[in-house]
Amino acid sequence: MILRGAGGVAARRPRGPEGSVRRMRGTHGWWRTAVVYQVYIRSFCDSDGDGLGDVDGIRGRLGYLRDLGVDALWVNPWYPSPQADGGYDVADYRDIGPTFGTLEAAKALIAEAHALGLRVLLDVVPNHTSVAHAWFREALASPPGSTARDRYVFRPGRGAGEAPNDWRSVFGGPAWREVPGADGEPGEWYLHLFAPEQPDLNWRNPEVTAEMLDVLRFWFDLGVDGFRIDVAHGLVKHEDLPDLGRDDEVLMGGPGDEDHPHWDRPEVHEIFRGWRALADAYDPPRVFVAEAWVPTSDRLAQYLRPDELHSAFDFTFIRAPWRAAALREAIERSLSAHARVGAPVTWTLSNHDVVRHATRLGRLDADPATALTALGGPTDLARGRRRARAAALLLLALPGAVYLYQGEELGLEEVEDLPDALRQDPVFVRSGGAVAGRDGCRVPLPWTRSGPSLGFGPSRGWLPQPTSWSGRSVEAQEADPDSMLHLYRRAIRLRQAHMTGLDSELQWLELGDDVLAFRTTPGVTLVLNTSAAAVPLPPGDLLLASGVVDGAALPPDTAAWLTSP
Ligand code: NOJ
Repeated sequence: MILRGAGGVAARRPRGPEGSVRRMRGTHGWWRTAVVYQVYIRSFCDSDGDGLGDVDGIRGRLGYLRDLGVDALWVNPWYPSPQADGGYDVADYRDIGPTFGTLEAAKALIAEAHALGLRVLLDVVPNHTSVAHAWFREALASPPGSTARDRYVFRPGRGAGEAPNDWRSVFGGPAWREVPGADGEPGEWYLHLFAPEQPDLNWRNPEVTAEMLDVLRFWFDLGVDGFRIDVAHGLVKHEDLPDLGRDDEVLMGGPGDEDHPHWDRPEVHEIFRGWRALADAYDPPRVFVAEAWVPTSDRLAQYLRPDELHSAFDFTFIRAPWRAAALREAIERSLSAHARVGAPVTWTLSNHDVVRHATRLGRLDADPATALTALGGPTDLARGRRRARAAALLLLALPGAVYLYQGEELGLEEVEDLPDALRQDPVFVRSGGAVAGRDGCRVPLPWTRSGPSLGFGPSRGWLPQPTSWSGRSVEAQEADPDSMLHLYRRAIRLRQAHMTGLDSELQWLELGDDVLAFRTTPGVTLVLNTSAAAVPLPPGDLLLASGVVDGAALPPDTAAWLTSP
């Protein structure tokens, strides 16, 4: 069966030898087949020894990203912020937080990345600000009904101590906080779908729309190539703020929730049409990738209609079980929903919100589908890493774009034994420690075999690394030709060289229920064996395999790329 994807095949860029300067791919449509590397700035590289990563740390490692072969980096929020939620509580959208660096350093990073052929995407957080943002401080100092309060969602309570409605915060507990009223009057409540330090903006207020467009303009004018949009599906709330009627602390509605009061409302699309028009007015056009947790591929595709966003994360592989038939079904569903609106799929295995996939895929007791927080449970890490290597070859062979999360190219696992006192995720704090939260996937990267933070910085990092990460460091993996790092480098290079049709079509091969196999045109044949026994490989020369391939047999939990006959 042939699934037609979106057209618009991007020109492939010429590849020089490793380490050489290269040109960026053509300006139009580069994002359709890009490989983008997510830099979780707090944990990437610390240049000044304060234990937190920073802009200069990224600048010093751009050569690493170029050698990995990626097209772009996406930097998580680097704005001034009290860090109540890892920087997703923004106090000023037009500056850099002092722990991360300066605006001058950011401009230098953008220029240096571009000189190396790397594009730079930032993270915009439009659903909420920090309580430290000037607007929120003004709102608190202003009376109910004021213009300042109307930029947020303030409402009177329903009675003494009773919130305006029954909505729950994604991080646990009620989604409302009461503020004191003047002269003993009852106070109003403000909405926070995340932490109380993250008040939701009122997207029905045109001032909010105009301000956020201006923020985008500010960074686009500095040469930034695009934005990842935080909680894109949450911006607009039902006008009447009706009760939800259930106790959900989740990031999305269910399949039947066509009229959810705060997730995926139809009004959000108009906002993104405005954003697209702005991005298109730049030369080269700027791009967006949405974080939109919606229950079906069809709903996701709504964000990707031609006059809306360019791309949106497809979380298929964060949720799908490790079984060829289920993976194929999920891939088909995503490809066809995206094809209907002419958009490429944006695949990803991990990010800073979910359990690292080397761990997920090694869980013995459950499907690897995961929530925001660590699942716990017995894990076979060797198996998880074997599958993670295979999964990388699967994603990099699929039509569309791929986002990598820092450290997956090193096969890093979730760190599950962090001391409670060091955990910072509000999910952990708000659940009174009952839920581990997301710190375990945010541990600083190991660059060298030794040193106080394995090369992350000159001193200890904000979270401790497992001692075993010495052997998983970049330095250690550079020296091992069979390492995960070398596998990623080879795969990305081969992808650039062989898979010029990645944005166009895919042909499934029928090799049994436990074998996922397809051909890209022109390009390669991908075969992934999720069964417990070796399976025969189809004809074709072996280009790359995620494990040892003996003769023509593909071992369990292994993937291979073959030349297509
Ligand atoms: C999604 C971000 O990825 C996550 O880290 C953050 O906590 C929430 N949005 C709230 O901004």
